[in-house]
Amino acid sequence: MQTAPKFPYNFIDKIIITQEQIEERVSQLGEQITNDYRDSDRLLLLGLLRGSVMFITDLMRKVQLPLTMDFMSVSSYSGSESSGFIRIDSDHKTNISGWDVILIDDIVDTGYTLYTIRKLLLDRNPRSLRLCALLDKVPRHKVDIKIDYLGFAIPDYFVVGYGLDIDEKGRNLPYIASVDLDKYLASKK
Ligand code: IMP
Ligand code: MG
Repeated sequence: MQTAPKFPYNFIDKIIITQEQIEERVSQLGEQITNDYRDSDRLLLLGLLRGSVMFITDLMRKVQLPLTMDFMSVSSYSGSESSGFIRIDSDHKTNISGWDVILIDDIVDTGYTLYTIRKLLLDRNPRSLRLCALLDKVPRHKVDIKIDYLGFAIPDYFVVGYGLDIDEKGRNLPYIASVDLDKYLASKK
């Protein structure tokens, strides 16, 4: 664990995954992808904005193959929990037909986001499609979904850092930290 951290946000509870742990795991995922796609001449890392930005930019540096990067921006229709109705705010630019696509998100909660976008992308005829996420709250899944490249399985905490946010705050932290929701709500008053 990192010692005596200075938290720039007053609603952080504790660091649950350190910067070093993230670095090590991202390197391993990069090696795995490098091995799995060494025969591919059309590898596309497709990230979901904005949470996956830090993850995808670190991960792509660890993939020692030619690749392309693209993004989609999606949001869930209602409230703090994903509703299953996923809206596409901005679509990818690449025509993915014939591409080996790895769809990348920051975290899986109910699973609706990746489940829905995966189905939509399959209709666009990629050569292959796999899922990648930095974090997964496995017991909270509401749909049957398997992450091919997973960083860490975590308990049911609300977390921020390394791209993840709470109301757009916390993305710049270099580690993953749990949020003290009482302190967070108090800080908004
Ligand atoms: P799902 O569709 O329920 O799987 O939710 C996935 C999306 O919800 C992610 O892309 C995140 O944007 C957001 N999300 C879920 N849990 C967290 C969290 O603990 N911290 C930050 N964002 C989260
Ligand atoms: Mg998201």
